[in-house]
Amino acid sequence: MTRSVQGTGEPVLVLGATGMTGSRVARRLRERGLEVRSASRSSPWTFDWRDPSTWDRVLTGTRAVYVVQFDPQPLTPPFVERAVAHGLERIVLLSGRGVDDRDYFPEAFESDANFVPTHLVGEEAVRGSGLEWTILRPGWFSQNLSEGFLGQEVRSGRMRLPTGDGAATWIDAEDIAAVAVAALTEDGHHGRTYELSGSRALDLTEVAREISHGLGREVTHTPVTVEEFVSEHVARGWSEEEARDLASALSPIPRGKDTHVSPGVGEALGREPRFFEEFVRDAVDSGVWER
Ligand SMILES: NC(=O)c1ccc[n+]([C@@H]2O[C@H](COP(=O)([O-])OP(=O)(O)OC[C@H]3O[C@@H](n4cnc5c(N)ncnc54)[C@H](OP(=O)(O)O)[C@@H]3O)[C@@H](O)[C@H]2O)c1
Repeated sequence: MTRSVQGTGEPVLVLGATGMTGSRVARRLRERGLEVRSASRSSPWTFDWRDPSTWDRVLTGTRAVYVVQFDPQPLTPPFVERAVAHGLERIVLLSGRGVDDRDYFPEAFESDANFVPTHLVGEEAVRGSGLEWTILRPGWFSQNLSEGFLGQEVRSGRMRLPTGDGAATWIDAEDIAAVAVAALTEDGHHGRTYELSGSRALDLTEVAREISHGLGREVTHTPVTVEEFVSEHVARGWSEEEARDLASALSPIPRGKDTHVSPGVGEALGREPRFFEEFVRDAVDSGVWER
């Protein structure tokens, strides 16, 4: 039995601390009175996945870590080894929905440099680490539509996506962070893999309608083909590779692979996931769609 993380005075290390989940994990840990070590390339604690010489400093003296993986390369296994060597006791890993389903991202299984193999070997390393571990497998984050790469589409008022009439069970990053913080600070989550989603599927037209309603101005969704999507993004300055990667990341939605509701929020927290409307209200209040 390890000592409870709560009250040890040792900081909890949060990777990806400027990102959609890491920033919320850090905030929620601080709200509980815990010391937090916020780490990423632009965080107070400099951490770069591509530079292993930055890893030891952030790990030193910590007991638990929230890991946001680096999708282009499978670097989680050596990081987990380092965490074990530093005497950490607990690890919570952010993975993703569908990483063990060959039909979810069929093309990703053909490639080594992709987030699917990264997540799979990351999960393996965590399960075999001997640490107390919890794995989170969320679907599409609602915050992709505000802070993430779809935020610009929403701000422009015209979402043009290769998603057809496909739907997703959008998960609020606040719920992911709440599960992560429970796993980092409480007992009962060791050895659990939580599949996380929101409580209902919304297609992009319904998403646009909900956002329009909350924002008080019209946001539309027009389905486009992958080729239209790629050429429109290239015209906006994206590389063709980036645009195709994004289209590929969206591809489970039109194929109907993202419509199921997963039970992880209820299993971990004993409550329902937040409603999509709550995400919209928070995003409107933050002004993220006005910038
Ligand atoms: N977005 C989704 O819907 C979704 C769904 C399922 C799973 N996931 C997974 O969640 C993870 C995070 O993706 P995200 O899109 O949501 O991004 P995010 O967490 O919002 O942002 C990425 C974070 O990683 C940090 N970062 C980027 N490059 C780094 C590097 N070389 N070294 C250290 N830190 C680095 C960034 O901070 P700095 O720029 O300061 O370094 C930022 O804090 C990915 O593994 C993704 O596969 C995402």
